[in-house]
Amino acid sequence: MIEVQGVHKMFDLADGGTYALRDVSFDVHEGELVSLIGPSGCGKTTLLYCISGLEPLVEGRILLDGRPVEGPRSGEVGLIFQKAVLLGWRTVMDNVLLPIEVFGRSRASYASRAMELIDFVGLTGFADYLPGKLSGGMQQRAAIVRSLIFEPRVLLMDEPFGALDAQTREHMNMLLLRVWEATRKTIVFVTHDLEEAAFLSDRVVVLTARPGTVREIVDVPLPRPRTIQMRYSEDFVRLARRLRGLLDVVLSPAAIG
Ligand SMILES: Nc1ncnc2c1ncn2[C@@H]1O[C@H](COP(=O)(O)OP(=O)(O)OP(=O)(O)O)[C@@H](O)[C@H]1O
Ligand SMILES: [Mg+2]
Repeated sequence: MIEVQGVHKMFDLADGGTYALRDVSFDVHEGELVSLIGPSGCGKTTLLYCISGLEPLVEGRILLDGRPVEGPRSGEVGLIFQKAVLLGWRTVMDNVLLPIEVFGRSRASYASRAMELIDFVGLTGFADYLPGKLSGGMQQRAAIVRSLIFEPRVLLMDEPFGALDAQTREHMNMLLLRVWEATRKTIVFVTHDLEEAAFLSDRVVVLTARPGTVREIVDVPLPRPRTIQMRYSEDFVRLARRLRGLLDVVLSPAAIG
């Protein structure tokens, strides 16, 4: 579904160019949930933007469904940011329907789908609330609903639960898994939290420090559907330790050079 092939990305800075990504390659299969982890500044957000078509590449190519990504494709890819980006003066429902308005489609034909999704994420009764009256987790759920309204086949999520407390985060992890099981999107999920990556994913792509390149791609051996209890299983602990080891190597001075 997503093929990232030999991607290089550089930014022009006042004192010359700096590499953000160097020769990054990996695939994400249709319906798969793949996480990206790596040290801060290694290029995870940049990579998501490249996949979404918002950032051009210096070298390499990215294919979506076999076709090269040359710019944003509306409706095919949903992006979710670390902080829920909702418009404060619009209600939850009006925020959810914003993409529909932006792309000039009829609100009426999406309204019942919007309500269904709002119910599904547990926001029943809050459709007419302004975002300022909701908690952080509720706002993020509204943002997730908005990204799903067009039924994108691919969801790119950039640390969507990073700002939430541990308990809400665990709840959101389970919710995401339920959404994913019900809709079978292809998901690329960026996180700082290697346990979150291990719990959610089919595979975890571990990136090195800047400029980011793929250090290892790790298969997650846990069965589906995932349960909270699995976080305490031997397989999980072993996997988390392995990911930690890979990140530690990545962060060691020798590896950074
Ligand atoms: N628009 C830009 N102009 C110049 N440099 C940039 C730009 N965007 C990102 N960079 C640089 O590219 C590198 C990767 O940034 P990116 O935001 O992708 O990292 P990240 O892995 O998402 O980090 P974090 O985990 O902290 O979110 C950083 O060194 C950053 O300074
Ligand atoms: Mg980032």
